Amino acid sequence: MTRGHPRRALVFGASGQIGAALLAKLAAAGWDVDAVSRTPPSADGPGLRWHAGGFPDVAAPVGRFDAVLSCGPLDAFSVWYAGSTLQAARVVAFGSTSLETKRAAGDPGERALAATLAAAEARVFAAAQARAATATLLRPTLVYGAARDASLSRIAALARRTGVFVLPRDARGLRQPVHVDDLAAAAIAAVDAPAAAGQAYALPGGDTLPYDTMVQRVLAALPGRPRLLRVPSPLFRLALAAAHAGGRLHGLPAGAVARMREDLVFDPGPAGRDLGYAPRGFRPTREMLVAG
Ligand SMILES: NC(=O)c1ccc[n+]([C@@H]2O[C@H](COP(=O)([O-])OP(=O)(O)OC[C@H]3O[C@@H](n4cnc5c(N)ncnc54)[C@H](OP(=O)(O)O)[C@@H]3O)[C@@H](O)[C@H]2O)c1
Repeated sequence: MTRGHPRRALVFGASGQIGAALLAKLAAAGWDVDAVSRTPPSADGPGLRWHAGGFPDVAAPVGRFDAVLSCGPLDAFSVWYAGSTLQAARVVAFGSTSLETKRAAGDPGERALAATLAAAEARVFAAAQARAATATLLRPTLVYGAARDASLSRIAALARRTGVFVLPRDARGLRQPVHVDDLAAAAIAAVDAPAAAGQAYALPGGDTLPYDTMVQRVLAALPGRPRLLRVPSPLFRLALAAAHAGGRLHGLPAGAVARMREDLVFDPGPAGRDLGYAPRGFRPTREMLVAG
């Protein structure tokens, strides 16, 4: 911070699970923040101003920023940033490790997502370079911690309703769940890390563990300790197909089930070296999984 002048950040996706963690850390570090949301909270805070807006029609607050941080949809941010006149020396944007894990997926929709993410990253880097700014892209693995993620919190909600969570026996692919606070810390570190300019980093969690062990730890953190039921894999897939056919199951594509067998593992080394990234191990608490 320059004496008497807090640094200024513009944050997109500030209402999201990573965005909220980032706002808290920026406030603690004394940043002056403009946050953009399609439905902003009614009240600003000390050093925090909310602005109503969403991609593609964001009316960004005027002036120069020390950093712009994107915790929203990367593709939409990249297009907006490339077409804007925003002046900010540093750009830090969240993408996803799906760029790599879904590149060769069987599902054409998943391959398209990977291609979209790759194109968006390239667009951010090019747009930053064109205006003498530097960009860093951050790719989290499976995000949790704010009790509002679409994976572990959803598993927790389902298990709490039924007292049991069912997995196929071969759901043993390795996972690295990463806490929102570790991601927020990495984003802030990236702003001040010269080595991070022009780089993309995988941001995995601090533990690498099989899918079913990860779920087991989620269940152990919940009241009533729902049971993990492992069923033979062919039986699981049959039941899943029947549930899909009967219209009783939405949002669990076949690719997601197949991936439970696959290792999705990333090296935290480069982020550790350049950003001091040291993510916590996976020890979820009820508060990290269940809202309220
Ligand atoms: N969750 C994961 O497991 C995971 C894993 C890897 C990577 N990521 C990536 O990390 C980033 C943040 O993820 P997250 O889990 O924190 O997301 P999140 O909780 O869903 O929040 C995303 C935020 O983006 C904003 N947003 C959505 N559409 C927008 C639009 N058209 N214009 C402007 N803002 C828009 C929303 O803010 P408003 O509703 O207030 O406008 C929302 O709060 C994303 O790029 C995501 O792809 C997430």
